[in-house]
Amino acid sequence: MTSKIIGTGSYAPAQVVTNDDLAKIVDTSDEWIASRTGIRERRIAVDEGTTDMAVKAARRAIDNAGVEVSEIDVIVLATTTADNCCPAGACQVQAELGADKAVAFDLVAACSGFLFGLNVVNAFIQTGVYRTALVIGSDHLSKIVDWSDRGTCVLFGDGAGAAVIQASETGIKHMVMGSDGMKGSILSCVARTGGNFLNGKTPELGYLQMNGQEVFKFAVKKVPECVTQILDESGINIEEIKYFILHQANFRIVEAAAKRLHQPIDKFPMNMDKYGNTSAASVPILLDELNQEGKLKRGDKLVLAGFGAGMTWGAALMEW
Ligand code: COA
Repeated sequence: MTSKIIGTGSYAPAQVVTNDDLAKIVDTSDEWIASRTGIRERRIAVDEGTTDMAVKAARRAIDNAGVEVSEIDVIVLATTTADNCCPAGACQVQAELGADKAVAFDLVAACSGFLFGLNVVNAFIQTGVYRTALVIGSDHLSKIVDWSDRGTCVLFGDGAGAAVIQASETGIKHMVMGSDGMKGSILSCVARTGGNFLNGKTPELGYLQMNGQEVFKFAVKKVPECVTQILDESGINIEEIKYFILHQANFRIVEAAAKRLHQPIDKFPMNMDKYGNTSAASVPILLDELNQEGKLKRGDKLVLAGFGAGMTWGAALMEW
């Protein structure tokens, strides 16, 4: 017994912010951003939060899967930008959907979050604990980005992607995950710092901080490494893979992965030009786009892979 993605959905806020728009607030240009990252525009949530976006993506995934909300046993929301410390965003999603039979919790693994969530629910399903799961990646990065830092603010966007996963004889074949906390400082965002009546400190809000070159080096090494690992461990030839659905951080990272894996670039769909890096939402948004466009056929072999703060990485090999 394994599990299979039986429906996908995604949501991006309506507000488009182009590279030219950003050039009005920081010293940058469309040419610089597009040539280094492949990003041309991103969506920014103005009056919505992580949960709002998650609910919209989840409803679309549930419709696409054709399941009843009452069938959902577990909801995992992968996010680094929950609206509240508590309750968990997943519990809010549960309430909005009326999924009263589900257990719901959040999972923090930054841009690898959707893959980590998929792995967790796959383990539940494989062991017979649950039968139907909803995994959502939703992030509201625009609220933790320093809009005066051109080195980071041009890279990110807001959005959500979701998938319904159900017990099945075929589907997920293998998953790998990894973490390297020793590299944590290259991509971080400190939470409201600890001020209390004893230390007299005033709490401060942190913003996303990044050593871009170190993150780049990490990604171009780790992504092909974990893709190779998952294929080796499952005895699948790389030529059998139809699409490599990678985290959409930068087209140069995707190109470098394609090169290291000796695979043609047209096996690596990309949409960062429209959305930027939407963190945990990036892989499921791309997966949903391919699904809605009818590009995925039952039996196709896919590899999903991501990397992110932590540092973390993960990959999934599945038969669609
Ligand atoms: N517009 C114009 N210039 C910019 C800029 C911007 N938005 N951001 C940085 N620069 C400048 C820098 O200040 C630097 O100027 P200097 O040489 O005068 O100091 C110059 O561009 C080169 O900066 P550098 O950081 O070396 O650029 P880069 O080629 O490494 O590209 C990234 C920067 C961020 C695009 C690239 O490192 C990257 O994509 N890293 C991975 C980031 C990532 O994926 N993060 C999310 C992980 S989930």
